[in-house]
Amino acid sequence: MTASFPAMRMRRGRSTPWMRAMLAEQRLSPSDFIWPLFICAGSGCEEPIASLPGVSRWSVDRIGEQAKLAASLGIPCVALFPNTPAGLRSERAEEALNPDNLICRAVKAVKDACPGVGVLTDVALDPYTAHGHDGLIDAAGRVMNDETSKVLVEQALVQAEAGADIVAPSDMMDGRIGAIRSALEDAGRQDTAIMAYAAKYASAFYGPFRDAVGSRGLLKGDKRGYQMDPANSIEALREVALDVAEGADMVMVKPGLPYLDIVAAVKREFLLPVFAYQVSGEYAMIEHAAAAGAGERDALILETLLAFKRAGATGILTYHAVDAARLIHG
Ligand code: PBG
Repeated sequence: MTASFPAMRMRRGRSTPWMRAMLAEQRLSPSDFIWPLFICAGSGCEEPIASLPGVSRWSVDRIGEQAKLAASLGIPCVALFPNTPAGLRSERAEEALNPDNLICRAVKAVKDACPGVGVLTDVALDPYTAHGHDGLIDAAGRVMNDETSKVLVEQALVQAEAGADIVAPSDMMDGRIGAIRSALEDAGRQDTAIMAYAAKYASAFYGPFRDAVGSRGLLKGDKRGYQMDPANSIEALREVALDVAEGADMVMVKPGLPYLDIVAAVKREFLLPVFAYQVSGEYAMIEHAAAAGAGERDALILETLLAFKRAGATGILTYHAVDAARLIHG
């Protein structure tokens, strides 16, 4: 054998479509996706969100159609977020505990339309506070941990009562997973699961979401006093360890694509499902890049979602869920 002739040619494995299909280590499926949906007041409404091109808020009476669309494409679960009317936002976020609020009505509407679709609800106060923070603030404007946690427990119970299958605390208060778990048990809600936003970073990628829920203009200051520093990864593992010890059924890393190292590390270190949230700013980045001709939209969508799987994500919360599911179905 001549020294110059390679004994191993990696390109053999890439030579034909069937060979590539046979050797693929990861595959995307619609069942990998959780589809976030925004709810608005009124009836018969679809409100497009300018900073999230292609995404709309839906009134409660139209959310069932969306759930049916998810079901028809094999998307197992939707995540619901409300745009609370301004008049119902307050210092202490009382509307979060109203059993007849937008989110509770939307949960029931999804369950009525599509009992087989899972419903995940966001536990945090930012869609309900007049100041746009995820918790209650003191006189100095600081988010109070334990006082907030008590309200989050009540909020989670109200959502579970409305029919939420998974409650997902996204507020980053300390100790709230344990408090919510024990309150759910005491209330006989042992089947309500908790997906902890365990490693949630204080990110610049949340802007369009804050438009979607109407909190961007209200937010005073930033969320760095409770969300994580993008510089840190060891800390993410400590956050996950605490949430696991407190009873989280699954954990989430957020944002997604810029934090795949965290997804991979959590997957390696812990024996539980790990989800990634491809957040609003990531979605917008893909849409704007495609619109500007920087890449082909469908290919950008599928490649980024596949990258989450390769990093070890069990599933992905993505505004592209329906587009991606359609692409996968072909
Ligand atoms: C707040 C919350 C945020 C997102 C989900 N829940 C924004 C924030 O923390 O300010 C962001 C999701 C996205 O950007 O798509 N509880």
